[in-house]
Amino acid sequence: MKGIILAGGNGTRLSPITPTTHKQLLPVYDKPMIYYPLSVLMLAGIRDILIISSPDALPVLRRLLGDGGDLGLRLSYAEQPVPRGDGDALIIGADYVGDDPVALILGDNIFDGAGLPLLLRQAAAGHPGCLLFGYQVPDPERFGVAEVDAGGRLISLEEKPRLPKSDLAATGLYFYDGEAVEIARDLKPSWRGELEITDVNRAYLEAGRARVVTLDRRSHAWFDAGTPDALLDAGRYVRLARQRHGRSVGCVEEVALRMGYIDAEWCQVLGERLGASAYGAHVRWVADEAAGAQIRRAG
Ligand code: DAU
Repeated sequence: MKGIILAGGNGTRLSPITPTTHKQLLPVYDKPMIYYPLSVLMLAGIRDILIISSPDALPVLRRLLGDGGDLGLRLSYAEQPVPRGDGDALIIGADYVGDDPVALILGDNIFDGAGLPLLLRQAAAGHPGCLLFGYQVPDPERFGVAEVDAGGRLISLEEKPRLPKSDLAATGLYFYDGEAVEIARDLKPSWRGELEITDVNRAYLEAGRARVVTLDRRSHAWFDAGTPDALLDAGRYVRLARQRHGRSVGCVEEVALRMGYIDAEWCQVLGERLGASAYGAHVRWVADEAAGAQIRRAG
């Protein structure tokens, strides 16, 4: 399965922070925003990932993440010359994806939860159609909204409706079978020339091939960090997880280690490269712990 992170856009809801800086490079507590969606794809077991961004931001993202080899990944990059909607990711990524299954994640989406790794691996294991993740929110009109019947079956999808039919936001993480590119190509962009991912998902729904998994708020956190409040809330959440529970949400080195993409020795090297930051100390601690466990197993 391939992965795509859509990490461009104008970030107008964060203006005047943007456009002099790039949204997906803003810190969410102790790391750049893009680490969070990247870690989600990694947790799903996806190692071939295309990062799509604006011509300005792309070189900076490339400098940050390189070819992904340090994390045991294969990262590729593609430009979106102007924001043409989140569905445009499937058009830009068409050659990269081919007819493989693909997971698309929006670059400002942050997920956390104990059950998440298992859910992600199950989602990536393959299934026909399209799989969405829903999350109950107090302000569904800000998002794509999913309506489900009593049995949890998806029955409608609307993008930022004025009168939402439910409080279930469709989060910015989508798993597709091998037909997503073709479906996106068949859709007509809006009068503004934009292709919305909700239209792709609705095409799957109309064909009876879309499902939604609701992430329980009691055990999962989800943020669309695209506004000042959400950005701050997400940072506070990540800080709390770190300080109270010793967990580093979105730590890509740790995920690479736990997924077996890198070994403890290499993780230690990456931690040393990160220098004196608390983030670096966490990476070194994770590497030490894994090396200790290896020695204990060998003994
Ligand atoms: O976060 C969940 C929501 O994300 C979903 O509920 C909506 O259905 C989905 O359309 C999307 O809505 P947003 O209004 O939050 O999308 P936004 O314009 O903020 O773009 C999401 C990310 O994709 C953001 O990191 C910027 C990037 N992007 C967006 C567009 C439209 C691009 O790179 N290029 C684009 O053309």
